[in-house]
Amino acid sequence: MSQKKRLAVFASGTGTNFEAIAAACEAGKIPAEVALLVCDKPAAAVVGRAARHGVKTFAFQPKDYPTKVDMESAIADLLDENGIDLVCLAGYMRIIADTLLSRYGGRIINIHPSLLPAFPGARAVEQAMDYGVKVYGVTVHYVDRTVDGGRIIAQQAFPYEGHDLDELLGFVHAVEHELYPATIARLLVGE
Ligand code: GAR
Repeated sequence: MSQKKRLAVFASGTGTNFEAIAAACEAGKIPAEVALLVCDKPAAAVVGRAARHGVKTFAFQPKDYPTKVDMESAIADLLDENGIDLVCLAGYMRIIADTLLSRYGGRIINIHPSLLPAFPGARAVEQAMDYGVKVYGVTVHYVDRTVDGGRIIAQQAFPYEGHDLDELLGFVHAVEHELYPATIARLLVGE
């Protein structure tokens, strides 16, 4: 019998996508387990979610490392030690740099709340609303040396013509919570 794949989720905030991924693993919808949470904000709500799901957490402060190379080396060592097959960024608000990419390139994916290549970077939903778009969406993509520019794996669009940011963010999250686990599952079975 093949062993279950091991995921690491990287997150900085609320962690609703972490929750969706962990729940999908527990329900057998993703043929994997969340083996590790990596969090650069020890006080973030996602840390409590990981504890409730029994997921091992590495919560750190970037300022504890002299350089970004040191920080990413420590993270990559931890990924090695935990036998991680796939890294899923889920609201991890840091740029992944060369040290991690050289060791885990091609095995790091991200979810972004816009239809890339439109609106990369921070506050993508706000950017799209300010622009006045009528169709919003979510993208899952590989992480490379660009900012939100790696090869696209999956996208889901939806129309919205209102002006209520909170309502819109709710729709975005609902789409993410379906699309991200389904995409991870497809990747792991090699589709
Ligand atoms: C998600 O909407 C995700 O797409 C976004 O952060 C949010 C995290 O929510 N990521 C980015 O903007 C990355 N550029 P969550 O903490 O509830 O999962």
